[in-house]
Amino acid sequence: MKAARLFHFRGLVHTRIQCRGNSILSQEPSGPKMKTKIPGPKSKQFMDDLEKTQNPLSTIFVLDVDKSIGNYAVDVDGNVMLDVYEQIASLPLGYNHPAIQKVFQDSKNLSQLVNRPALGVHPTPQFIKQIDQTLLPVAPKGLEYIQPMMCGSCSNENAFKAICIWHANKQRNGKAFTEEELKSSMVNKPPGSPSVSLMSFEGAFHGRTFGALSCTHSKAIHKIDIPSFDWPIAPFPRYKYPLEENDRENKKEDERCLARIEELFHEYKSKKNPVVGVIIEPIQSEGGDFHGSATFFQRLQKLTKQNSAALLIDEVQTGLGATGKFWAHEHFNLPEAPDIVTFSKKFQTGGYFAKKEFQPKQPYRIFNTWMGEPAKMLVLDAILKTVKQENLVENTRKTGEVLLNGLKDISKQYSKLILNTRGLGTFCSFDMPNASVRDKFIGEMRNAGIQMGPCGDVAVRFRPALIFADKHAHIVHDKMNEVLKKL
Ligand SMILES: Cc1ncc(COP(=O)(O)O)c(C=O)c1O
Repeated sequence: MKAARLFHFRGLVHTRIQCRGNSILSQEPSGPKMKTKIPGPKSKQFMDDLEKTQNPLSTIFVLDVDKSIGNYAVDVDGNVMLDVYEQIASLPLGYNHPAIQKVFQDSKNLSQLVNRPALGVHPTPQFIKQIDQTLLPVAPKGLEYIQPMMCGSCSNENAFKAICIWHANKQRNGKAFTEEELKSSMVNKPPGSPSVSLMSFEGAFHGRTFGALSCTHSKAIHKIDIPSFDWPIAPFPRYKYPLEENDRENKKEDERCLARIEELFHEYKSKKNPVVGVIIEPIQSEGGDFHGSATFFQRLQKLTKQNSAALLIDEVQTGLGATGKFWAHEHFNLPEAPDIVTFSKKFQTGGYFAKKEFQPKQPYRIFNTWMGEPAKMLVLDAILKTVKQENLVENTRKTGEVLLNGLKDISKQYSKLILNTRGLGTFCSFDMPNASVRDKFIGEMRNAGIQMGPCGDVAVRFRPALIFADKHAHIVHDKMNEVLKKL
């Protein structure tokens, strides 16, 4: 670890470190430090300002992004919180990491930071190189086609289209479109707009845009008032914990879900709305952190293939290391690669990896103005290099064990409040008896200096950065003990 020089960054003195070892941790405060309850008076004032033009009801506090550092988020009231939620699971290196700051300080990057080309028509040599040297090396094995996009929802939307195009191309044996297909597509009628469906899962979350929303089933508030496709919704396993004591019941649960999936393939085929793709999260995240076994995923892949459908694994929340493997679906030892894997969040840019056959043959079918973001690719490159140099995926696997073991110990002591502790890597969670206790607990934890997030009806989730270390896990455990004592 080598301090290069000191520089001022809007009021805060940071030590710029030439990235070696887990350097950012040495710049962090020693622990949370709270001055006010959350939201504090300054946050509230900003929220009032925001209300003039926006709905501020989801705002928790207003972030002081200049002062936030490493695993610590600082708000505008000067409260220093250990952040185990990290902007909804989207910061792999925490706040103000020197490796990312360097991207913006390097004058060679200036033109890419300044200019945002329409990459579908005018890609730059730098962007073409970034696809090859930044994204391709982390592609899930067997997926060589890369489609950059913007956010998680639009990555899923475009992956759905890629699946429909792939299916239709197979149906017409690769022949040209007919005049009837072209004409009918313009008025949303078959055969040009065919009746085909995508299977998704109860409790799933794949985004809030129009098509993705038909596959999202986590909360009614996301869906209410919006028309949806008639697409099949299958059960996703709901296991009993601890897993090692409930093997028989959980195997039965897999069987129940798989039987229904098989039925739905048949039902939708006979309704003349055949399933052409299945979208699934490796761990249902927004819906409540529900896990499926490796056997469940292997058999789902087999069923999907038997029904000539494509398997799309949505790794928007799980991808880039949080589960202790780079891709969460690597935990499942699938006999072959899934057909498509979507990503966003920790990648800073969205997109999908796919098998070559999902590449449309004609231009403009999977297309939008930007098709990705060169500046974010530079940031991603710095992130991936740091993850590799500092062995952060392995770090996350090991720290995850410390985090989870501590949570299990706490759940023994507070067995009526902390239920079903579970996790892979630091992607950990537990349930509480009901939503109001859960929400109160999260509020009290925040006031005690731990910023964490809810998911589903009763779950609390951990989504720390990959630089989260054992010492941070211990701080979380200590604060949980303090808060639970008084809850
Ligand atoms: C699994 C999954 N898919 C898709 C999305 C949507 O991503 P975005 O909010 O970037 O549109 C999310 C967001 O939380 C997600 O968790």
